[in-house]
Amino acid sequence: MDRVRIGILGAGNIAPLNVAAYLAHPRCDVLAVCDNREEKAQAAATNWGVPKVYTDIDEMLADDDLDAIEILTPTMLHKEHVLAALSAGRHVSVQKPIANTVSDGMEMAAAALASGRTLRISECNFGYPPLVKAKQLVTQGAIGHPTMCRIKTVVGKTDTAFQNGLDPSGYTWRFNDQSPGGHLFDDMVHKYGTALWLFDQDITSVQAIVRQAPAFFEAPTAAIWEYERDSLLGMMEVTYAPNMNMRSSFYGADEFFEIQGTDGFIWVTRCTGEMLDLAPLIVYHPDGSTTEYPDIESRWDSGFNHSGTAFIDALLDGTPDPEMTPDMAIKTLQFCFAVYQASIERGPVDPRTITGSASPPWWPPDLSNYFNDMKEYGSR
Ligand SMILES: NC(=O)c1ccc[n+]([C@@H]2O[C@H](COP(=O)([O-])OP(=O)(O)OC[C@H]3O[C@@H](n4cnc5c(N)ncnc54)[C@H](O)[C@@H]3O)[C@@H](O)[C@H]2O)c1
Repeated sequence: MDRVRIGILGAGNIAPLNVAAYLAHPRCDVLAVCDNREEKAQAAATNWGVPKVYTDIDEMLADDDLDAIEILTPTMLHKEHVLAALSAGRHVSVQKPIANTVSDGMEMAAAALASGRTLRISECNFGYPPLVKAKQLVTQGAIGHPTMCRIKTVVGKTDTAFQNGLDPSGYTWRFNDQSPGGHLFDDMVHKYGTALWLFDQDITSVQAIVRQAPAFFEAPTAAIWEYERDSLLGMMEVTYAPNMNMRSSFYGADEFFEIQGTDGFIWVTRCTGEMLDLAPLIVYHPDGSTTEYPDIESRWDSGFNHSGTAFIDALLDGTPDPEMTPDMAIKTLQFCFAVYQASIERGPVDPRTITGSASPPWWPPDLSNYFNDMKEYGSR
């Protein structure tokens, strides 16, 4: 393949971040955009300089000029859209989470294998330079054998142009029974996927406590997990701080990652936001010295740019996409549902046993008292 001619399905909130890399790639042509809301499709086509506009996926898939499809529709539609694009012979990149159930993910993975086309799940954390460098350092043995992975996620409030520009309709399907869970499903899949990807190790057991917070939040949450190698463990916490201003250029959230090894430490001190006045990546070496990486590219959208470029480069070179494979996306989903399940059962859950899905007992949330619930949060 000399160039990749791509069509974009779904021109909603996250589309501009996903499409930027395709528009910038010298050997990629964004030829079409499709959204069932015609005004969205038209506006996106105008902004991006895209020649063809569709409002129906089948019409776009009938367009023989397209080699690949980027799927950016709500998660509950991923399976239907991925299967359609694969059976039309297109290579596919689909946003995370792969699907709403593990069995749907498995069906999509099998369809991709049978079609001989690429199906990759776009995971911006796998392109985020501080995390990419951290993984490289772990693999090179810079901190010896990793023994503990700790991931913190905090959501607060923010007033960024990005957040204020979001179309609220993009949230309705996340807050009701069209989704199997809330924030721990929609956002934490990034962190579950990262916990798997950093070490190339399967997770064999998960324990968790998940509490309900307003709207789709599930906080505070604490989880611990075991990897195949029994000298490596993981843990995470998720908190919601609605009255705390988050320093960010995007969503009002941030993450910190700490990887302890037998010989040293790695800290990734930011991701979605820019809360801490610390270098984005810090390494503590076996001899007690420290290397800081203050200039490493660390804006959150850089992860999207590298992820998009990786998809095009892999198609052009005919090499495997370095991003999330369907197999890893399925394990990520199993990990996600194991957190819910472990909290319900108050005991360890082997994620590999999950073939369907799991939800918090209160899901979908009752939003009728949304504003009161937000006000009262923290006084419970
Ligand atoms: N990587 C990240 O950090 C990140 C961030 C946000 C969203 N996402 C993922 O991206 C996907 C989209 O999220 P979003 O926030 O942009 O949602 P959104 O609701 O804002 O956008 C979805 C778009 O798809 C369109 N659409 C719906 N059904 C369609 C159909 N049948 N045919 C054509 N278009 C259709 C909608 O009109 C809408 O414009 C989700 O899977 C979400 O989990 C990932």
